[in-house]
Amino acid sequence: MIAKRIYINTIGCQMNVYDSEQIAGHLALLGYQQTASPETADLIIVNTCTIREKAEQKAYSFLGRLARLKRKKSNLIIGIGGCVAQQDGERILGRLPFVDIVFGTQAIHRLPIWIRQIEEKRCQVVDIKMDDDARAPESIVGLHSETQSSRFVTIMRGCDNYCAYCVVPFVRGRETSRQPDSIIKEIRTLVANGVKEVTLLGQNVNSYGKKEGLCSFAELLVRINGIERLMRIRFTTSHPKDLNDDLIGLFNHLKKLCHYIHLPVQSGSNKILKLMNRNYTRELYLDKVSKLRDTCSDIAVTSDIIVGFPGETDADFEATLDLIKAVHYDGLFAFKYSDRPRAPAVDYPDKVSESQKNERLQILLAMQDAITRAKNQALVGSIQEILTDGFSKKEISAKSANASQPAQATGRTFTNKIVNFYLDGDAENSGDIATGKLLNVRIEKALAHSLWGKPLVGATTAKGVKGVESYAA
Ligand code: 5AD
Ligand code: SF4
Repeated sequence: MIAKRIYINTIGCQMNVYDSEQIAGHLALLGYQQTASPETADLIIVNTCTIREKAEQKAYSFLGRLARLKRKKSNLIIGIGGCVAQQDGERILGRLPFVDIVFGTQAIHRLPIWIRQIEEKRCQVVDIKMDDDARAPESIVGLHSETQSSRFVTIMRGCDNYCAYCVVPFVRGRETSRQPDSIIKEIRTLVANGVKEVTLLGQNVNSYGKKEGLCSFAELLVRINGIERLMRIRFTTSHPKDLNDDLIGLFNHLKKLCHYIHLPVQSGSNKILKLMNRNYTRELYLDKVSKLRDTCSDIAVTSDIIVGFPGETDADFEATLDLIKAVHYDGLFAFKYSDRPRAPAVDYPDKVSESQKNERLQILLAMQDAITRAKNQALVGSIQEILTDGFSKKEISAKSANASQPAQATGRTFTNKIVNFYLDGDAENSGDIATGKLLNVRIEKALAHSLWGKPLVGATTAKGVKGVESYAA
């Protein structure tokens, strides 16, 4: 088979990162190998996101720029997948006639058939079929040439919650859970190939298996915890209304379950939560956070917040700030509300002005920055176990510029905080510990969004994995 090259541009969430691995895996069967530059590609896929208007614009502007490449190389195949493809379907071909294939969020496993057809007949394809009642297709385990210590594993697709602002139920379809055995098999394969940590993905992992009568999410976690040589388990996202005591209890029981939860609250105002169709109150939310902290005292909690949802008054926004103060989050992802087609809030009255949204976002972020800094500062002097995750991005770009500097690597604590550190030992060993090793580090400095640490001499971690021996100064 002649090697052909595929370039994939992934926009959006972790689910899209996983889907892009599936795309690469399926198209490898047709002989496509990944390339890092669109100019050298025979096939370019843009895996898109439409959660907010900005993400959608990003996809269209990247696609627009591809027209030039297509003119230069007429046999180049260009595909658009993911949530924008699902949302806009055939209309995309009207807008961008040089696109060869538009494929939706549930069409990935049919890609090899379509791409082969396009290669042979140079036809245009639109496949945005949703197999709503069907079981999720089997995943392909996408293995990379270089070992990654951490990988995503989608355990369920779609969403049945219909939050008033959200497009996901319309572009990702009904909630469907994968079979537990298939998930376990996939994780075992990843672990056999050097992966040490998995992050389980779903729009609402707490309702895993309920519709299909499979095991519960808590039971699934217990099974995954039993996989030998897997070191850490994370998951995202949890819907506060479905976070139950069984799951909360596991943070205290399962050795591999990281002390970290992303629990999107969206707003601190009960009036807005109701308009958003979130099905919980701020009191219930705060109660769940207290339970989490009573069970697991060092658990890190992060959240998503939308500012400027239609009808949000100054008093509602104050209630959100008040909730942020009460929870003292480890980190926040905050977004300005943006209208999405088909999401009910498009038609809600009392839209908040752009300038008001900007102002609220700045106030909220400033408040959270101060909290994050204080939380990071409190860790200075402590010893943390990190799972190393390769050389830091800054390091990769600076490598050629300054070869005499010690290499800078990165990792995450059990509570999901980024720790950067110098690998100042001999080069042979440093490569060895830069990825996929548990390492004890002393936290020396707190930065705005990360920590700076120093590996301990002869650091042997709690789980008995040997850390650095020759790196301490
Ligand atoms: N506008 C702004 N933010 C949104 N989110 C989802 N839909 C919208 C929207 N229409 C945010 C929510 C969600 C996160 C993934 O994106 O906070 O949790
Ligand atoms: Fe969207 Fe709500 Fe589903 Fe999350 S739970 S994907 S915010 S509809």
